[in-house]
Amino acid sequence: MILVISSSLHPGSRSRILARACVKRLHELEADVSLFDLAESPLPPCDGATAYGDSNVQQLSGLIENADAVLIASPVYNYDVNSAAKNAVELTGRAWTGKVVGMMLAAGGQGSYMSGMGLANSLMLDFRCLIVPRFIYATGESFEGEQLADESIQERVHILVDDTLRLVRGLKPESQV
Ligand SMILES: Cc1cc2nc3c(=O)[nH]c(=O)nc-3n(C[C@H](O)[C@H](O)[C@H](O)COP(=O)(O)O)c2cc1C
Repeated sequence: MILVISSSLHPGSRSRILARACVKRLHELEADVSLFDLAESPLPPCDGATAYGDSNVQQLSGLIENADAVLIASPVYNYDVNSAAKNAVELTGRAWTGKVVGMMLAAGGQGSYMSGMGLANSLMLDFRCLIVPRFIYATGESFEGEQLADESIQERVHILVDDTLRLVRGLKPESQV
């Protein structure tokens, strides 16, 4: 199963459009896919204690544990993913161990294109995740209303999905491919 997490809490989020485009592409490819939207399933702030017992946290942890890969769609906030994405990782910790992880970022300008690296580093170093070495970084011109604006951004979604599936299949024992 491929899990897509949308971390923006903005009602008109652009990264959510990317997340949904990935889900659509995975459906077209007949892959097993789940979407977890932090705007619809809010998580408590991680306190390192009781927050782990929250039902949404437990649902998300279970989805991550069962996923072959996780695709995270996030806004760029202050040259990083948003705090909701970071909080989700804090709350679900070890569930990420060994996962293939891809990223899609929506940003205001071109200059913050390395903003996913903090999250990538922590997932690699903490949980030995394999980061898909291709990510989507999209600014306003890639969107039109609630849609992707053109074939170029659509193609980038397809490539991220294809590369992620290729890595997942490459890592599976032959009998399960
Ligand atoms: C608090 C805040 C911080 C932001 N920081 C950055 C930034 O560092 N770099 C950037 O390019 N855009 C920045 N932006 C713009 C957002 O990345 C942009 O609006 C993006 O579309 C947000 O994603 P979303 O539409 O999925 O919510 C920031 C926006 C907010 C609200």
